[in-house]
Amino acid sequence: MIGEHARFGADGNAWSRRFGGAALVTGASSGIGEAFARALAAHRMDLILVARGHERLRAFASELEAEHGVRAVVVPVDLGRPDAARVVRAAAEAAGLSVGLLVNNAGYGLFGDFTEQDPAVQTDMIDVNCRAPVALAREFAPDMANRGCGGIIFVSSIAAYQPTPYFSVYAATKVFDLFVAEALWAELGRHGVEVLGLSPGHVRTRFQARSGDPVTNPPGGVSQPEEIVATALSALGRKPSAISGLRNVAVSVLVRVLPRTVVMHAAMRYFDRLPPACASVEAVARATATTSGNGRFVRTVARMLATFLAVSFIDVVVCSLVTHKLRFWFPAWIDAHWDSPDSWVTYSQSYVAGIVFIPLLAAEAVREFVPKVAAAVRTAITAGTVAVLGFIVWWKGGLMLQYHKEQEAVAWVVLTAVIWGLIRVGEELPARVAQMSPRRLAAWLARGVSVFFLVMAVVDPLLCVGVQKLPWTKGLFVEVGFFVPAGVALWALARRLSADATEDRRVAVLESGFLPPRIATAKRNRTDEVTSENAVDPRIETNNTFGADQ
Ligand SMILES: NC(=O)c1ccc[n+]([C@@H]2O[C@H](COP(=O)([O-])OP(=O)(O)OC[C@H]3O[C@@H](n4cnc5c(N)ncnc54)[C@H](OP(=O)(O)O)[C@@H]3O)[C@@H](O)[C@H]2O)c1
Repeated sequence: MIGEHARFGADGNAWSRRFGGAALVTGASSGIGEAFARALAAHRMDLILVARGHERLRAFASELEAEHGVRAVVVPVDLGRPDAARVVRAAAEAAGLSVGLLVNNAGYGLFGDFTEQDPAVQTDMIDVNCRAPVALAREFAPDMANRGCGGIIFVSSIAAYQPTPYFSVYAATKVFDLFVAEALWAELGRHGVEVLGLSPGHVRTRFQARSGDPVTNPPGGVSQPEEIVATALSALGRKPSAISGLRNVAVSVLVRVLPRTVVMHAAMRYFDRLPPACASVEAVARATATTSGNGRFVRTVARMLATFLAVSFIDVVVCSLVTHKLRFWFPAWIDAHWDSPDSWVTYSQSYVAGIVFIPLLAAEAVREFVPKVAAAVRTAITAGTVAVLGFIVWWKGGLMLQYHKEQEAVAWVVLTAVIWGLIRVGEELPARVAQMSPRRLAAWLARGVSVFFLVMAVVDPLLCVGVQKLPWTKGLFVEVGFFVPAGVALWALARRLSADATEDRRVAVLESGFLPPRIATAKRNRTDEVTSENAVDPRIETNNTFGADQ
């Protein structure tokens, strides 16, 4: 028999009342699941924590109980077991807790060639990622529907939005989770049960080490587990699915509008170029520790200041060139000879860099200083920020319109965005260059210079003849005669260097024993062709399990 305490948690609080019971979090011993458990404990929900590692779970449960005064029951079970859902239910009932919110978070990935992955691991992954969430939802959803309240979160992934080579089975399991969640959102929503399919992008957790994921710098950026949880808890009950992070939303839209073959080939190329991932769990933990928390806010503010100063500097240069005098844009009294009737409007352009950073600065401040799941505070700050931004845009924008400065305003916004982007690229450049082989670096340089030459071959005559109305001088002929062949030759050289670099990487991959054995197979086939029938590369034999019978 489950009593009132069980129904409404430790103190009959709002969240327990909303869902009608305790929160069950699978995979609560690390990463996103741990962040879910912390956030829900902060909302004073009693917890049922599920994972395999008993010691880790027990210590975590004691910490939450001491910190938040909630009950935290531990259920150490392997969710790959066919009877796992029944075991979890029995444990919850034995503890006298009813499940109000189910967070189906436990899961793992498997990176590598489909034909080389261990079939037992592939099917276990399907069990843990798909069968267990469905079985758990099937176990608890009827009670929720009968009560007329409850919640279920399925942790999917951004990988659910496209077929992903090398993550083929994992990505498909996440499509399954997303689709089940969205369908249940409609089905169970009628009975008052809130369902959400949550799609995180890249989050540095133990996931990377366990799956062999080699991605370190994903297109959607890297998130913290707390951000994922904040996204989930604010979306739950409002929509069927949520993607964490604006960049991930953009990526998900892009991969839906592009043809699938294009997306898949791009993904293949992306993975093929990555350096091997052999990071240990400890290395990942160290990386997580250094990328999370404190330094981020300071770095963002420093970037904004650098951008602001750069835009202001360009302001000075452009203004001086246009007026043929050295012009300081602000403060106004330094530039005593300023003779424009609308100087304040013109000055406003210098502030554009500051204005466009208002929302970004506010978002970073919230992330850094406001408790992660204080949804009401976040909403209030967002509303305040939008109001301030709206007022400034209305005020300064109105003045700019009045003095016909629209084009300048747009130009400064674009300039600010470009400089911000360049600073970001510049920050990541040393790490990227360090990861490249000298050949690939040379290929990049050759391709860059080649593009420059080819663009100049078109732009230069257009400007000289088309805009400046100069005649086709001998010099221009010579210039174009140089740009075109030099550009084409450099392009060909870049292709050659790039092919060599790929080959170098294949050998390095073989020597490192890295996962994608498609590369090993291709290498073996090539080696077989050029060597005598019995001469087999010993590196291939050690790295390729199905080589013997080919
Ligand atoms: N990290 C990412 O970049 C990312 C991106 C998109 C989606 N996701 C999804 O987010 C979820 C959580 O991943 P995470 O990043 O937090 O990874 P994580 O740090 O490795 O956490 C995985 C959790 O699942 C538990 N777990 C794994 N296998 C289990 C099994 N057979 N039975 C019971 N519990 C099991 C683990 O505990 P034990 O090992 O002790 O069992 C751990 O608590 C996964 O579903 C993953 O697919 C992650």
